[in-house]
Amino acid sequence: MNIRKAVIPVAGLGTRFLPATKAIPKEMLTIVDRPTIQYIVEEAVASGIEQVIFVTSEGKSAIENHFDYDFALDTVLHMKKKENLAEELNHISNLIDIVSVRQKKPLGLGHAIWSTRNVVGNEPFAVLLGDDLVLSDEPCCRQMISLFDDVQESIVAIQRVPRDQTKSYGIVEGKPYDERTYTVDRMVEKPAPGVTDSDMAIIGRYILRPEIFSLLEETEPGHGGEIQLTDALLKLSRQRAMYAYEFQGTRFDAGDKLGYLKAIIAFGLRHPELGKEFRKHIKQVAENF
Ligand code: UTP
Repeated sequence: MNIRKAVIPVAGLGTRFLPATKAIPKEMLTIVDRPTIQYIVEEAVASGIEQVIFVTSEGKSAIENHFDYDFALDTVLHMKKKENLAEELNHISNLIDIVSVRQKKPLGLGHAIWSTRNVVGNEPFAVLLGDDLVLSDEPCCRQMISLFDDVQESIVAIQRVPRDQTKSYGIVEGKPYDERTYTVDRMVEKPAPGVTDSDMAIIGRYILRPEIFSLLEETEPGHGGEIQLTDALLKLSRQRAMYAYEFQGTRFDAGDKLGYLKAIIAFGLRHPELGKEFRKHIKQVAENF
């Protein structure tokens, strides 16, 4: 089975980034010259995904507009002979086939994914969280799809985190399968100190088999009163094999203020036109402040 569809949940409230996110979705905050969400859609496209399914909520229409064709703007840009800009904007709207599904209540990530069941149907799919950026040579989603081609089972992307940070993540316990892959034994959402020895934290990339939908349907609200994806994943891992994959690359939580700043620096340094000048500037700033 091939992975053709990617679900990108963007229905969260973004309370960690207030007041910036009062009127603007956090996924529309800019990293160098494009909104966070564009990097994520570009990762999906570069991974061979054919259709993106956004899970949206009230106030997120700017995200849909960003990927839409804007006839008035296109006409004005052509009149002003700004052909390159017009082409770049059309490139964004032509990137991929996009469908939107509304999450009617903010009941958590698990509920957001469950909302896409009728659009995804009975096939495995990728999930890319709308505020989690990965900077890597090979797109993180493509690395995971390559692993799925071998194992044909659900996969969560993981990174090692310091022990004092495990309480902020879903944590996986498992056994080595190959160099970067583990078979999942247990998962726990935001563990209190002492609950687990593992430092393998789940980040915002998943490949899920469609069996996850019926498990989400029967999952009761867990941590924070939300329907937790981790709880349904744990049930799925008891029914069939599941893998944790330590991806190659660096991940940034762009929904968090410090993570966002770190992402701007990293993406700025790697920018093809601005990178060189920006590197010089960063060195000067580090010396003078
Ligand atoms: P977060 O934990 O980052 O929550 O959600 P949030 O609400 O977006 O942000 P904060 O914590 O209030 O600042 C992880 C992912 O799950 C989506 C978010 O959009 C984000 O991509 N999500 C979360 C939903 O789609 N629906 C929800 O009900 C909750």
